[in-house]
Amino acid sequence: MNVPNHHLAGRVVIVTGAGSGIGRATAIAFARAGAHVLGVGRRQANLHHTASEHSAITAFVADICAEGTPAAVVNEAIDRWGRVDVLVNNAGAAAIIPLAEITGTRIAELFALNVTAPSLLAREALPHLREVAGSIVNVSSTFGHRPLPGGSHYAASKSAIEMLTQSWALELADENVKVNAVAPEVVPGLVEVEVAVPRSRPAVW
Ligand SMILES: NC(=O)c1ccc[n+]([C@@H]2O[C@H](COP(=O)([O-])OP(=O)(O)OC[C@H]3O[C@@H](n4cnc5c(N)ncnc54)[C@H](OP(=O)(O)O)[C@@H]3O)[C@@H](O)[C@H]2O)c1
Repeated sequence: MNVPNHHLAGRVVIVTGAGSGIGRATAIAFARAGAHVLGVGRRQANLHHTASEHSAITAFVADICAEGTPAAVVNEAIDRWGRVDVLVNNAGAAAIIPLAEITGTRIAELFALNVTAPSLLAREALPHLREVAGSIVNVSSTFGHRPLPGGSHYAASKSAIEMLTQSWALELADENVKVNAVAPEVVPGLVEVEVAVPRSRPAVW
């Protein structure tokens, strides 16, 4: 990821799902840009691997779906650095489950991770984001705005995060809190990224 050096010096960024994949790359990119990064995830070893890539990354082991975790994550960032500038709601899971096989439990689990946890993290971060005109970045998928036969509930969860993104962006625009989403799609050898923003708001990251 190409981020100009240290233009985020002193900023504080929370990245969920920082122990692997897009979250790890995002955490490292923000750290290289000068930010303090709180990397969140359940697997300690993965998070420590990410933290070993840059001294500005701190691992915070937690299940973001657990009661009280969203507040604990934000409190950790505030206790350490006194501010939160960016929340990257990256942690998520895909689920390829045909309609004929779906269960209430799987739907609830999927939405708890892909929709509810990002919402509660955003709520907890909001008072601090207001103070610094900060940003929320939600990680969607191209399936947030196109159908996925056989994986409809995953697509629906990403569609939900895109509509939350657009609604929050308008809801918080007057408070200078920016809200955007990125929608990756894996193509062999390439990750393409689309940006989902309301027409009235510029993409920031
Ligand atoms: N890569 C793609 O093809 C692609 C395409 C479109 C969209 N996306 C989206 O991009 C995001 C990242 O995906 P990825 O490909 O980088 O996948 P990944 O490597 O599986 O990363 C997901 C991360 O989320 C964390 N996580 C999962 N459940 C969690 C929980 N309950 N609490 C805390 N952390 C949790 C995982 O860590 P632990 O298991 O250690 O908790 C993991 O580090 C997801 O939202 C995904 O839907 C990815």
